[in-house]
Amino acid sequence: MSNIYSEKAMDHFLNPRNMGKLDDPDGIGDVGNPGCGDLMTIYIKVDEDKIKDIKFKTLGCAAAIATSDMICELAKGKVLDDALKITFQDVVDKLGKLPPSKVHCANLAQKGLKEAINDYRGK
Ligand code: FES
Repeated sequence: MSNIYSEKAMDHFLNPRNMGKLDDPDGIGDVGNPGCGDLMTIYIKVDEDKIKDIKFKTLGCAAAIATSDMICELAKGKVLDDALKITFQDVVDKLGKLPPSKVHCANLAQKGLKEAINDYRGK
């Protein structure tokens, strides 16, 4: 299995640090991929234009969970405009390795974060 997923990706799948729901979030990003049926929700708390806290709930594959967890790690503490600059490739690079068929999962995580920020800004 470790030749398909990097050890780091496996670790974020098996021991996600940011899984859960935030009470009273400032922004929620609900996304899904109709192709595979995976669903992801990203919750953010914003303070002085920075992502103070972020959590995710993902109903999906191992890569969807690992990439949700990693996007939370990358976004935490960032100002919103910088968080929006995080690309799906940043997530893949940080996880080390994902099977090519699973790169769309990182894309979903990036979309979830973007939706959460847009939700906050639209309020
Ligand atoms: Fe579609 Fe992972 S298989 S998000």
